[in-house]
Amino acid sequence: MIVFHEATRMFFLHGKNYSCALRIHPAGYLCNFHFGGRIGEDDLAYLDHSARELSFSPIPPDVGNYFSLDVSANEYAGFGQGDFRSPSVLIVRENGERASRFVYTSHKIYGGAPDLDGLPSARGGQTLAISLKDVLSGAEIVLNYTVYEDSDVLVRNAEIRNGGKTPVTLLRADSFCLDLAAGEYDVLRLHGRHNMERTPERTPLGHGSIRIGSSRGASSHQMNPFLALLERGAGEDSGVCLGFELLYSGSWTLEAEVSQTGSVRVCGGINDLNFSWELGAGRSFITPQVAICYSARGLGEMSRSFADFFREHVLPEKFVYSPRPVLVNNWEATYFDFDREKLCALADEAAALGIDTLVLDDGWFGKRNNDRTSLGDWTVNETKLDGGLDPVIGHCKRLGMKFGIWFEPEMISKESELYRAHPDWAIGRADVPRCESRHQYVLDMTREEVTDYVFGCMSEILSRHEISYVKWDMNRHISEFYSSRLPAERQGEFAHRYILGVYGLIGRLQAAFPNVFFEGCSGGGGRFDGGMLCYFPQFWTSDDTDAYERARIQWGTSYGYPLSAMSCHVSVCPNHQTGRITPFFSRGAIASLGATGYELDPGRLSGEEKRQIKEQIANYREIEALILRGDLYRIADPFAGELFCVAVVSKDKARAYVVGMRVHAVPGDFDRRVRLKGLAPEKRYAVEELSLTLRGDTLMNAGLLLPRLPDFGCWVWHLKETS
Ligand code: DGJ
Repeated sequence: MIVFHEATRMFFLHGKNYSCALRIHPAGYLCNFHFGGRIGEDDLAYLDHSARELSFSPIPPDVGNYFSLDVSANEYAGFGQGDFRSPSVLIVRENGERASRFVYTSHKIYGGAPDLDGLPSARGGQTLAISLKDVLSGAEIVLNYTVYEDSDVLVRNAEIRNGGKTPVTLLRADSFCLDLAAGEYDVLRLHGRHNMERTPERTPLGHGSIRIGSSRGASSHQMNPFLALLERGAGEDSGVCLGFELLYSGSWTLEAEVSQTGSVRVCGGINDLNFSWELGAGRSFITPQVAICYSARGLGEMSRSFADFFREHVLPEKFVYSPRPVLVNNWEATYFDFDREKLCALADEAAALGIDTLVLDDGWFGKRNNDRTSLGDWTVNETKLDGGLDPVIGHCKRLGMKFGIWFEPEMISKESELYRAHPDWAIGRADVPRCESRHQYVLDMTREEVTDYVFGCMSEILSRHEISYVKWDMNRHISEFYSSRLPAERQGEFAHRYILGVYGLIGRLQAAFPNVFFEGCSGGGGRFDGGMLCYFPQFWTSDDTDAYERARIQWGTSYGYPLSAMSCHVSVCPNHQTGRITPFFSRGAIASLGATGYELDPGRLSGEEKRQIKEQIANYREIEALILRGDLYRIADPFAGELFCVAVVSKDKARAYVVGMRVHAVPGDFDRRVRLKGLAPEKRYAVEELSLTLRGDTLMNAGLLLPRLPDFGCWVWHLKETS
C-alpha cells in the first residue's frame, strides 16, 4: 500500500512486513526517514538531523537554515552540492558542468508496474512515481517504487529525462540510492568463477565502501548482482537483513558505503566504468530495476521472500509453476562426437527410464566438430546428422519424448560462413586483431541487422521442426567494447545497448514461439540473474555437476533465487569437472533440489544406476510441487562444516522434503542430530524413511539422528502430515 500525507509531506510504502517512509524537506529534498519493519504513518520530522552543522559539509544555497546533503538520507544523490558519498548520477552539460541537486516536483500512484521500454521488469504491484527536478541541469528524474502487499520486496528504478534544450551526457545512472541510519553491518556477496559460481562471503562493513560488480558485459560467474546487508549478529534465522538484487544481466555495480556519521548508503545499477549515454533534449534514459528485500528473521526469511517474489512477479507466468521437462542433455555424454545413431540410441535408453525430453547440445550445426568453428552458421550439419534433425525428432516422438536444442545466439566463430561474410558483425574493429575466448567473438547485438539475422536463423529452425525447448547459451565475456555502427561519442553506450539487444531478441523469439520452453545458460551459471529470469523459468546453475560442488553452488544460489530457477543434472563419475567420485544416489538427491535432468549416456550405466534413475524421476515428480512452490530452509551450511542439509516445506506445512550430505565420513560420530526447520510445531509428521511419526516441535528441537554415511553420502527424508 502506498500513501501520501499532504500535511507532513510524507510518503509511506507498506509491504507485508516492512515500511519505507520518505519525506519532502521544506526545501524540496526527498529524504528517506525509514526503511525497515512496519511503522505507523507518523510525522517523522523529529528524526531530521540534517540541520545540525557539521564542519566541512557544504550547505546548499536555497535552505534558510543549516541543512547539508552530506548528512541527509537522500533518495537519489546529486553531485557537487555537498553530498560527497557515491552520487546516483553524473549529468554532463555542454559546458562540461556536472553538478546536480534534486528537488521534488510531483508524484503519482498507480496500479501495476512501470513500463521499462525493453528492460526486463517485475510484474504487478502498486507503483509510486516521484518526479524530481535537477535545479542545475534541468533534468527530470522519476523514481519508481513498486510495492506488493504480499511481499517483503520493494522494486525500484530511476528514469532520467533531459528537460533542457541541448544534449547532455550521462556518465553514471544508478538505479537507486538508499541511505540507512547508522548501524553496524556485515556484507554478504556471492563471488565465484566458471564452475564455482555464487560462493557466499560475509565480511564486516567498515568506513568507506564495499563495491562489487562486473565489467564483463554480463552479470558474470565472478560476482552475482546480489548484495545483502546484515545487522551485525544477524544470521540464518534471526536478525535484520536487507537483500539487493539487480534485474539486469549486463555490467553492473552494487555498493555499500559507510559515511562519516556511520550512516550507510547502498546504491548501484549499471556499471559506470566505460559507460556514457548521450541524452538528447527531451529524451529519457531508463535504468534497470533493483529488488530490495527486508527480513527481520535472518537470511533464511530473506531468501524465502526473494523466492516468492521471483515466482509471483518475475519468472515467466506461463511456465513458472508448470511441471518441468526431465531431460537428458547429450553434452557430457558425447560432447561434439555424435551422429544420428548415437542420439537415437541415447533417446531409446532415456525413454525406457522415464526421461521425457532429449536435448541436443552444441555441435549440430555448420561444420562444428569442436569449439573452433561455425557459431553463427545455424543450419544443420547434415554430414554429422544425416537427414537433418527430423529423423532424430521423429525417433524421440515415437518414443513419447520431446526434443530440445542448444543455441549460442550471441556468438560468431572466426571460422564460419557468417564471419567470412560479415567480419564487421563481431564486436571490435575488423581491421585490428581482437581478443578471442573459446576461439570465438561476440556478435554486435546493438545492430538490428545482426539481431534480425539471428532471429531469422533461429525462427527457421524452430518453425520447421517440432522443438519444445531451447537452451540459450553464452560462452564468453566481452572485450573491445566497440561497435563499428556507433559514433565515437556513443561508444560508452555499447555495453548497455548490447544487453538491450539481447533482451530484445529473446523477447521477440518468445513472442513468436510462446510454447517453447527457454532455459538460460552462460557457461553454466554466468548470467544467473534477475534480468534473465524474467525470460527463462530456469537457468543452468553451473557447468560443475559434481554432487558436492553442486550442493555448495546451489546453497549459494539459494540466497537470492528460488530452487525452481536452478537447473540441476545428474552426471557420471569420475566427475568431468573435479574427477571426484560420489555415490549415484547423492548425485540424484542434489539434482532433485531444482529442475532435475541428466547429463550422461544412460546406455553406459549399470543396471543398478538405471534402476536408481527410475526412482529418482519418480521421486522428483512426487516432490516437484515442493520444488516449484515450497519454502526453503537452510539447515547445515557446507561452507561452515562437514554437513549440507536443507528442507523444502510446503506452504501449508503439510509436507517437507529434506536432503542432506555428509561430506566426509567420521568414525564414531553417532551423537549428531539434525534439527529440522520450518515445520508446524503442533502438527504430527510421518518420516517415511525412518518409520517414525513425531510432532513438528520434536523434529525441530530434539531433531533426528544424523544417518551414518560414506564420504559425500546423501540422505533424504520425506515428511507427511498425519492425523
Ligand atoms: C557451456 C554450457 O554450460 C554447457 O552445458 C554446454 O552447453 C557447452 N557450453 C556447450 O558448448
